[in-house]
Amino acid sequence: MKIQTFASYEDMSRSAAEAIAAVVRAKPTAVLGLATGSTPIGTYRHLVRMYQEGTLDFSRVTTVNLDEYIGLSGTHEQSYRYFMEDHLFRHVNIDPARTFLPDGMAPDPVAEGHRYDQLVADLGGTDIQLLGIGFDGHIGFNEPCGEFVKPTHPVDLDPSTIQANARFFASEAEVPRRAITMGMGAIMGAHRVLLLASGQGKKAVFDASANGPIVPQVPASILQLHPDVTMMFAEG
Ligand code: GLP
Repeated sequence: MKIQTFASYEDMSRSAAEAIAAVVRAKPTAVLGLATGSTPIGTYRHLVRMYQEGTLDFSRVTTVNLDEYIGLSGTHEQSYRYFMEDHLFRHVNIDPARTFLPDGMAPDPVAEGHRYDQLVADLGGTDIQLLGIGFDGHIGFNEPCGEFVKPTHPVDLDPSTIQANARFFASEAEVPRRAITMGMGAIMGAHRVLLLASGQGKKAVFDASANGPIVPQVPASILQLHPDVTMMFAEG
């Protein structure tokens, strides 16, 4: 595992975008595993800039996102589909038909999880998986629990996660209580993993994930078992 520390969020974002761009330049048909949350926004901004400067081509790229809220359609402003359109997809030359997220409106979320895992498997896994991290150590929406869950699956969100994500909604009551998340199988199946964390509030969980015991109570700690992980931390 490589740990990289940056003085600023901006420096980390530029470096993360460069790492992703390098994957796409080496393999124009790359499969990118993407994440939502506030942390990767700067990375997406730099990817858009590279596209606008003509140094990055998304025309043959495929993306698979980590997660989606159950009960929100892609047109809902707080859906993760909407987030991705807003921060990346509609600003670059990606084929919309090659951008995938779990379907939060699927009538059977368990079956949707299986469909999604099959999709990721059929794509050959992700060439690089971008991750943020929750204050409780969650990746995607794999919340702390008694075991690492392998398949893509529906989850009940932790009260702390609902509270943390309430800032994006009009009120905490509007935050969906459930989500569907890529499981540890597809995340650990990525050829390469890039986890980003920013700010002193994330320092303890970042350190626990990188150096602490590998336990499902700190979901990101499983990454210690992956052969090619870079964890980036921005001090400010
Ligand atoms: C959400 C997402 C995670 C993300 C986390 C942290 O819960 N499902 O993928 O890592 O938020 O978000 P932020 O980067 O805004 O702290």
